[in-house]
Amino acid sequence: MATASPAWIVPVLLALAALCAAAEAEASPAKVPAMYVFGDSTADVGSNNYLPGSAVPRANFPHNGVDFPTSRPTGRFSNGYNGIDFLALNMGFKRSPPPFLSVANRTNRQITRGLLGANFASAGSGVLDTTGDSIVSMSKQVEQFATLRCNISARIGEEAADTVLSRSLFVISTGGNDIFAFFSANSTPTAAQKQMFTSNLVSQYKNHVKALFGLGARKLAVIDVPPIGCCPYPRSLHPLGACIDVLNELTRGLNKGVKDAMHGLSASLGGFKYSIGSSHAVVQSIMKHPQRLGFKEVTTACCGSGKFNGKSGCTPNATLCDNRHEYLFWDLLHPTHATSKLAAAAIYNGSLHFAAPINFRQLAEDQC
Ligand SMILES: *[C@@H]1O[C@H](CO)[C@@H](O)[C@H](O)[C@H]1NC(C)=O
Ligand SMILES: *[C@@H]1O[C@H](CO)[C@@H](O)[C@H](O)[C@H]1NC(C)=O
Ligand SMILES: *[C@@H]1O[C@H](CO)[C@@H](O)[C@H](O)[C@H]1NC(C)=O
Ligand SMILES: *[C@@H]1O[C@H](CO)[C@@H](O)[C@H](O)[C@H]1NC(C)=O
Repeated sequence: MATASPAWIVPVLLALAALCAAAEAEASPAKVPAMYVFGDSTADVGSNNYLPGSAVPRANFPHNGVDFPTSRPTGRFSNGYNGIDFLALNMGFKRSPPPFLSVANRTNRQITRGLLGANFASAGSGVLDTTGDSIVSMSKQVEQFATLRCNISARIGEEAADTVLSRSLFVISTGGNDIFAFFSANSTPTAAQKQMFTSNLVSQYKNHVKALFGLGARKLAVIDVPPIGCCPYPRSLHPLGACIDVLNELTRGLNKGVKDAMHGLSASLGGFKYSIGSSHAVVQSIMKHPQRLGFKEVTTACCGSGKFNGKSGCTPNATLCDNRHEYLFWDLLHPTHATSKLAAAAIYNGSLHFAAPINFRQLAEDQC
């Protein structure tokens, strides 16, 4: 993937390692009233546990959660926390907002006052409603937020609801599954097909953001898509075990398009503020300089089976590595607790290389 390192990389990496230490030492009260989280398995903290059917992607069994408090599988595709959990901790929350589906049927005093927030993310979903089977699509996640918003308004009044929501953080982490679905239907798309697919994806992404804005969201915290062509699963499909370039190219196209779209929205929608956190930049840094960031294995998953442990998900009978903190990948498609921690630190308080035009901390602290 990479050749020589640019000159900025060393200071940036040292700063990253320091960030992790700083995030650990910090114990301030929450910087925003609530976090509302939308997206796919990179953000899901257990939504899919509440969905019926055998087609639903799940992670509520071992070895998932082996490093979670009390070694509990929760539905997170991780050995421990995921990136959203670490973001919530960095924001000063004691815990990650719960899956909306776990609180939807009971009145939660804190959440209906617009505090803490809720997580709508559903593994397997994408930007497009056609991506994923038996999961909660992105459009449906936005609808679920609309119902929660009604409860908040009913509880504290329309005006107070508008105020508290305008100060809250709306996190979106999605797009990888749309690219996988497109690729599995056509692994050798033409330039025109790639272009058409990407621009449609960006336009749908923009629609979701506009819908959230219409429901009162003002602080949009977008997490971009990492170089998914280098995950253990795509690598296991490549005859030489290399990254699958088409997937990475589509990812760069989507990330670029979303970046431009967010910039455009901030110019046209009054009060709209955003940050794009780059999990792409973080994963690339780890792949280029694993040792300096404490990693030893950046191609093979810690848990799985077959080539690169990329041929199956992390099931109870899968192989499990010992030194989990030294692995970039937990399973065939997802990062470890260690990777997520580094990514969240970089996105929360890192330089423009990791979050732009401001970082998530600046977005959270912005007074509107
Ligand atoms: C964020 O970064 C700034 C500047 O690099 C630093 O002064 C500050 O201590 C960091 N804060 C946290 C919470 O990491
Ligand atoms: C919530 O209630 C609906 C209908 O009353 C039911 O179908 C659903 O399973 C319930 N969800 C949870 C998480 O209990
Ligand atoms: C929202 O209000 C409805 C109707 O009062 C109630 O059934 C539901 O449990 C509430 N949901 C939340 C998250 O408070
Ligand atoms: C684990 O068991 C499941 C069925 O129980 C099977 O589909 C899967 O291939 C097995 N995985 C490994 C790594 O043996």
